[in-house]
Amino acid sequence: MDSFFRGFGVNPGRAGHELAVEAEKMIVETRGLLAKFFNHRGDPERVIFTQNATDSLNIALCGLLRSGDHVVTTRLEHNSVLRPIRHLERDGGVSVTRVGRDAQGYIDPEDIRNAITPKTKVVVVNHGSNVLGSVQDIEAIGKISRAAGTVFVVDSCQSAGVLPIDVEAMGIDVLVFTGHKGLFGPMGIGGMVIHQDVELPPARVGGTGVDSISPFQPDVYPYHLEAGTVNLPGIAGLNAAQKWFAELGRAQLGDAGKTVSHQQACKAALTHIESVELGHINRLASSLREMDRVTVYGPEGNARRTATLSVNIDNMPAGQLGEMLDADYHVCVRAGLHCAPLVHMDEGTVEQKGAVRFSPGYFSDQEDIDQAVAGIADLSEIVTHA
Ligand SMILES: Cc1ncc(COP(=O)(O)O)c(C=O)c1O
Repeated sequence: MDSFFRGFGVNPGRAGHELAVEAEKMIVETRGLLAKFFNHRGDPERVIFTQNATDSLNIALCGLLRSGDHVVTTRLEHNSVLRPIRHLERDGGVSVTRVGRDAQGYIDPEDIRNAITPKTKVVVVNHGSNVLGSVQDIEAIGKISRAAGTVFVVDSCQSAGVLPIDVEAMGIDVLVFTGHKGLFGPMGIGGMVIHQDVELPPARVGGTGVDSISPFQPDVYPYHLEAGTVNLPGIAGLNAAQKWFAELGRAQLGDAGKTVSHQQACKAALTHIESVELGHINRLASSLREMDRVTVYGPEGNARRTATLSVNIDNMPAGQLGEMLDADYHVCVRAGLHCAPLVHMDEGTVEQKGAVRFSPGYFSDQEDIDQAVAGIADLSEIVTHA
C-alpha cells in the first residue's frame, strides 16, 4: 500500500499516462491472482471489487431477486445476508426459507434440497459461521443448487484465506469475500467472484473511465459493477497479501525456484495456516471445556471448523466478560451478538447479550492462548465465589 502511494498513487483508466497504466496493471494483476486463488476459470474481469462483503451481498441479492422469487438461506447467516433478505421480503415481494442447523452448527444439505421450490432463484449460505466456527459442506450444497438451476451465493468472510475455496469444484456462482480477515488485506475492501453465466445488474452507475460517451453503464465487466474510483490502496493491500500467501506456500513446499503455480503455492499456504489456527483453537477449546462454569458453543471433536470459538461464563453478560478480559488480561475478544442474531436465538444467548468470541489467527502464539485460558479461568472463579 505504501509503495502504491509512493510509486504510482493515481487513478487508473482516467488517463493514459505512465502512472495510470501502472495503477491499472496492479488492479488487473490482483484480479488475476484472486481468480487463481479461488480457481475461477472464467474472465478475471469477473473478480469485482467493492467496499466490503456487505456491499457485495447487497449487490448480489438485491440484483438477483425480484418480486415473486423465493430464496433459500440459513439461520447461521450474518446480518449482511439476513437484512438484505428481510428488506426484500418486507418491501420487495420475495419469499424466504431459512434452513435450521444442528446443535453444533451444521446444515444438512438435504434440508437445502427440500427447501428449494420451482420459484427458488437463489441459495445463499455462509461457509464458516462467525459465531460457532462450523464449516458447511459447500460442495454438496453447490451440487444441489446447480441441479435445481438456482444461483448459489456463498459468504466466505470467515473462510477465504483459511480454507481452500474452489468455485468450480464447489459449484459457487457468486463468491463473496471481505479483504480484512483471512485474506490479510486492509479494512474497506471486499468483492465477489461472479460465474460467467450469472448476470448481475449494476447497483450504482456512474464514471468508469471507459466508454464515457454511452449514457448508460457499460455492459462489460468489471465496469458493469464498478462505478466510480475503486479502493486502490485496498486492492494494493490484497495484492501484497496474495503474494505473501504464495511465498509462504513456496516456503512450505521448498520451492525456492518458484516452479509451482500461484494456485498450488497458495493451497500449500492454506494447509499450513489452517493447521496453525486449528492448533490454537483446539488447545483453547479443550482447556475451556474443562471449566465447570464455562459454556463453549459450536462444534466438538473433529468436526470441520475454523478458529472461531464463542463462550460464556454462567449467565454473566457477554459484554462484561469481554471488558474484563480486555482490561485485566489484555485479551481482545468480540463480545455481543456478532451480527448473527438467529445463531444467538438458537443458542439461547440473546438475554445475556450474546457471547464472547475468540478468534486466534495465524500470527497468534501459544502465549496468547495461555493468556486467554488464564483470563477465563480466573474470571470463572470470581463468578463462582461472587
Ligand atoms: C460471516 C460474515 N459475513 C459478512 C461479514 C461482513 O463483512 P464486511 O464487514 O466486509 O461487510 C462478516 C464480518 O464480520 C462475517 O463474519
